[in-house]
Amino acid sequence: MGAKRGIGSAPVKGRRVLVRVDFNVPLDEHGAVADDRRIVEALPTLDHLRTAGARTILLSHLGRPDGKRDPRLSLRPVARRLGTLLGQTVLFADDIVGVKALESVARLKNGEFLLLENLRFNPGEEANDPGFAQELVRLGELFVEDAFGSVHRAHASTVGVPRCLPSFAGLLVEREVRELSRLVGRVERPYAVLVGGAKVADKLPLLASFLGRADRLVIGGALSFPFLRAAGASLGATAVEADLGPVAEEFLRRSEEAGTEVVLPEDLVVELPGVAEPVTCLLSAVPADGLARDIGPASRARFSEALRGTRTVFWNGPLGLAEDPRFAVGTAEVLRTLGTVPGYHVAAGGDSARVVAALGVSGSFQFVSTGGGAALEFVQGLELPGLSVLPDA
Ligand code: ADP
Ligand code: 3PG
Ligand code: MG
Repeated sequence: MGAKRGIGSAPVKGRRVLVRVDFNVPLDEHGAVADDRRIVEALPTLDHLRTAGARTILLSHLGRPDGKRDPRLSLRPVARRLGTLLGQTVLFADDIVGVKALESVARLKNGEFLLLENLRFNPGEEANDPGFAQELVRLGELFVEDAFGSVHRAHASTVGVPRCLPSFAGLLVEREVRELSRLVGRVERPYAVLVGGAKVADKLPLLASFLGRADRLVIGGALSFPFLRAAGASLGATAVEADLGPVAEEFLRRSEEAGTEVVLPEDLVVELPGVAEPVTCLLSAVPADGLARDIGPASRARFSEALRGTRTVFWNGPLGLAEDPRFAVGTAEVLRTLGTVPGYHVAAGGDSARVVAALGVSGSFQFVSTGGGAALEFVQGLELPGLSVLPDA
């Protein structure tokens, strides 16, 4: 992926600039922003536009309201948090398009910001409806794409609008593309990929994309279970995604042909019903009622060893049920070891980024992406519609 035309060259002074941001942030039980990282990472672009005297109209989605208004998924709390971060009031428009939205935009002065309500309250957003895209286009004169986390979606705000307005990449998108590009194409080797998490069926294409590209593929978390089962492990009462046995076997065979070493857990931390203290088990010795929750001490040492001596490491997905401190030990130890390995290290994934912060291991990474699905598609080398639509630099 080559560089895209950036906002540095955009004539924004006094112009109405539509900026797609990814303010799809977690909210707490009171509806307040629980983690503002995605908002903070958009600040360089917003600051640039303010200094340059643009009239900025911010577009975002929040959650998956399915084309209907849902007060629990309003962006209003996000406008407040953004205002605090910018040190300036951020205006808010309940109406995404139409006369009232046009009126709100008309009142904007140079250097001011207006956030529109959740785009996904309108069914036209996800459907990439041309009529809805045209109504958004009427609000602005230029378009800036800074929602890296959403560029894998071909929606009205990510593809429909930039097709119709002079478009530019924002500073966050530029940075994400520059950093993640170091994981595709010519990569400094040895190159290790550390993958965990759940949703095995979803992540198989990601794993497969590294065969022949990475030197080592280290697989932990629930993602490893079908591979362990294919190799004969019982795993007790652990839920293992069904029907993946043959796929896992075929995958391991292909990895040998491709010359990519696959490293799997050798032992597991297992939860027994009604017992607070977990036990460590070899793969062949998980009790019938046991639930595999984390990688065990031998695996932690093996995984750490697999990372030593590498030059590039990509990580996605916790190696255990890391939300529970009892089962975050494996992830914590391996990521701490990574901090002692010189080289270029990138983390991506919504849960993974939160785990980096919760475990205090941000120092182990040169870059933590704001993308979930978008980053995973990018490192697979897939085409992302929200980037393809932008003109090259
Ligand atoms: P990301 O959002 O970073 O891509 P995923 O969504 O794939 O990551 O995976 C995160 C989820 O996987 C977490 O909720 C984590 O607790 C869960 N997980 C990982 N290993 C296990 C395990 N052994 N048992 C249960 N859940 C697990
Ligand atoms: C994300 O959180 O990955 C992005 O905001 C995209 O959200 P989506 O998966 O609901 O399209
Ligand atoms: Mg996740």
